[in-house]
Formats: sequence, structure tokens, C-alpha cells
Amino acid sequence: MKIAFFDSGIGGLTVLEEAITRFPGIEYLYYADTKNIPYGIKEKDTVIRYVIQATDFLEKKNIDVLVVACNTATSVAITEIRMKYDFPVVGMEPAIKPAIQNNHGKKVLTIATSLTLNESKLNTLISSIDKYEKIIKIEMDQLVNYAESNDFTSVSVKKYIEEKLEKINLNEFETIVLGCTHFIFYRKLIKEIVGNSIKIIDGNNGTINQLEKIANLSNYKTSIKQSKQKISFYSSGVLDKKERTDELLKIIENLRRSRI
Ligand code: DGL
Repeated sequence: MKIAFFDSGIGGLTVLEEAITRFPGIEYLYYADTKNIPYGIKEKDTVIRYVIQATDFLEKKNIDVLVVACNTATSVAITEIRMKYDFPVVGMEPAIKPAIQNNHGKKVLTIATSLTLNESKLNTLISSIDKYEKIIKIEMDQLVNYAESNDFTSVSVKKYIEEKLEKINLNEFETIVLGCTHFIFYRKLIKEIVGNSIKIIDGNNGTINQLEKIANLSNYKTSIKQSKQKISFYSSGVLDKKERTDELLKIIENLRRSRI
């Protein structure tokens, strides 16, 4: 079993980490489209082209399943790639459904990239579940760049988030949905800014549940325990060198630690 994870950069590592924790021992392949990042401020057709380029590459690696660990790529390209390739494809969905289901009357803030927020995939979902118009959307495109430059805690990134949140009254909100996999790295910082009374949720768990179903991973559990964990990392079609691989493994390890 070979499972590929795809993102424009390091955001998808947060989804991969969830998969490794729940299903260790499987062979994973991680593809970051670092040459073309960021996706969220680009034209839809351009991003579709990038996603197809990456998926063509992954197809040649004989993968069994593809996880599009990027909300932006999922929004614009998932239908197309599901039609084009033979292997099953799992995508991301901002967790607005559980947010609305567990809502107690206050508002839900969805933060994501501009492209995700403007796409019909999200807006169709919102209009089908948001009867009382509780969902408010704010783009935080720059967080993708901050994350790629390893800036998770600086005064500047904190100020950026605070300024983005200035246009809303936080007292009216009970949930924030992280609708971009890069934003998972900012959960703690956002919590610090908004306080403990607002829940912060993401779609990673839902995506891995979907992966478990599609790849029948529950039947895999016993056999994988003995085998060794293998992850190969690629940046826009080029196998990563040891230095970059170590860097990415360290990010995964830090995510694992912050979970404990
Ligand atoms: N991780 C991507 C997402 O989930 C980031 C998009 C970008 O490259 O702008 O949306």
C-alpha cells in the first residue's frame, strides 16, 4: 500500500502526521509543489494545471491512493482529478458542517485562502447548511507565506492575524474553522489571540477517516505494526535531499509532540 499526500507546501504535513499516528508502517509519499506555492491567490485554472502536473507525477509512482492535503487544491481540482485518474482521491473539506451541527447560536468563522473562500464548492456547502447565516469568512492568505518561512510565532504574524480579526466582534463567535492546512500551525497562536471560549477546529480528522474507509485501512492495522515506517518527500517532482527531508520530519515530529 502506497499512499501519496499532496499540498502546495508544508501544510499537508499536518494531515500526513495524523495518518502516520493512526496508521503507522504504511509507505507514504509526500509531494509539496514548492515551485508554484502559494496557490490561494492564483487563478483557478492555473492551480488546476499545477495539481494535474503533480498528480501525473504521482501516478507514475504507482500510488494506491491520493490525499489532496490542501483545501485550495481540493476546492478547484478534486472533481477533475477524480475523473482523470484510476486511483481513489481523498480531499479536504473545511469542518463547517460539524461547526454548524455543534453550534449553540453564535457565529462560526471560517478562515482559508481567497481561492477556497470564493470557490463554489465551499459556497454551495455553506448555503446548504447555514440556514441562519452564521458563517463568516475571512481570508488569511499571508499565513501560507509565514508558514513556509518557518515563522509561527513572531510579532509580525501575530499582528497580521489580529488585524484580520479586527473587522469582527469576537464575542459573537463560538467556533473558528481552519480551512487551510497551513493554518493548523497557527492553532496555538490563534487560541492565544481569541481566548479559550472559542473552539478551533479543522478537517484533518475527517479526511483521515475518509482515507481509512477508502483504503480499507482498518483491515491493515495488524500487518503494518511490524513493518518499518517509510516516507519519501518530493518538491515539485524532485526527490528531496537529506537536509530537506530531515527538516520535514522534524516538523512532523513537532506536530506529534504538540498533540500529546
Ligand atoms: N495548504 C493549502 C490549503 O490548504 C495552502 C494553499 C496555498 O498554497 O495558498 O489551502
